[in-house]
Amino acid sequence: MAGNKKNIILTGDRPTGPLHIGHYVGSLKRRVALQNSGKFDDIYILIADAQALTDNADDPKKIRDNIINVTLDYLSCGIDPEKTTICIQSELPALYELTAYYMNLVTTARLERNPTVKSEIKMRGFNEGGVGLPVGFYTYPISQAADITAFKANCVPVGEDQMPMLEQCKEIVHKFNSTYGEVLVDPQILLNENTACRRLPGTDGKAKMSKSLGNCIYLHATEKEVHEKVFSMFTDPDHINVADPGKVEGNCVFTYLDAFSNDEHFREYLPEYACLDEMKEHYMRGGLGDVKCKKFLEKVLNEELAPIRERRAKWDADIPAVYEILKKGTEKARETTGRTLSEVKDAMMINYFADSALISEWEANIR
Ligand code: TRP
Repeated sequence: MAGNKKNIILTGDRPTGPLHIGHYVGSLKRRVALQNSGKFDDIYILIADAQALTDNADDPKKIRDNIINVTLDYLSCGIDPEKTTICIQSELPALYELTAYYMNLVTTARLERNPTVKSEIKMRGFNEGGVGLPVGFYTYPISQAADITAFKANCVPVGEDQMPMLEQCKEIVHKFNSTYGEVLVDPQILLNENTACRRLPGTDGKAKMSKSLGNCIYLHATEKEVHEKVFSMFTDPDHINVADPGKVEGNCVFTYLDAFSNDEHFREYLPEYACLDEMKEHYMRGGLGDVKCKKFLEKVLNEELAPIRERRAKWDADIPAVYEILKKGTEKARETTGRTLSEVKDAMMINYFADSALISEWEANIR
């Protein structure tokens, strides 16, 4: 029952490709900090392969290949398998049973209002030119509610785009608890305070990093790749000569500096400014060239990525250990989610064989 007030985190990612620095500042870095805060009784990260299949049904190989990729990204960032349980969604059958029961608590009209799903449908061209909308994709917010509630998570640190999923989940929790009794835990979303971190644009200035646009800096990027990406980064197209005044809004270099740099970095690499605001003022006034800004950003990014690269090299050399982590984590998650499913079935009175009262009730009724 929901009485045992535990602090439990659940987050997840779709394994559709390697993770990039947008994932990192948007959520991963925070997860590591939360993990190391010691404030949580349990922390789970779900590799949401089944959710990834809802719009990749024809490409299971892509999903399969990225399971290890994403796990390596987690471990490289400092996710510690001793403190955080990493598990695979499709290996947790309780999630699908919960999804089936929750589907009865949600209307199609409600699903249609989900703004994230709406924009994803548009981006993928579903419901256009004869391309249908997969039912699994349309209903994935319900299965995500199953993910969150199965772990009894009270805290879900994710990106801003996941807000509608959390709202949907809360509605399901309230509906379930008021209909069947207090079993499920009401989850809170935890967003990054730094707004630049919440939605890091691609290096071309486009809204989101995406593999197909080639505008990502991956967590596994080498120094050479970081250099190339930073030096081809979108800045202010009207800032032609160093002396010209420049714009910092919509200028990727400054957006990235907003997300990644701190005063320490200035002391170390660019002591002529005390902080980012001073540097921005100079850029806007004129007299500060893009190359200098990019060199600084490159140093800041490499400083962040260096320990990640180091840890990755270590894990890369021991993939069987990574596999073991996934296996052990998934086993633990199977127990946790199975327990919640039992409580849910008890509350719904569909626990027939766990509860022989079915017989005595029947006998009492007919006598
Ligand atoms: N929808 C999330 C994403 O696209 C992935 C996800 C699946 C998730 N299940 C979750 C996130 C549960 C948080 C909690 O990134």
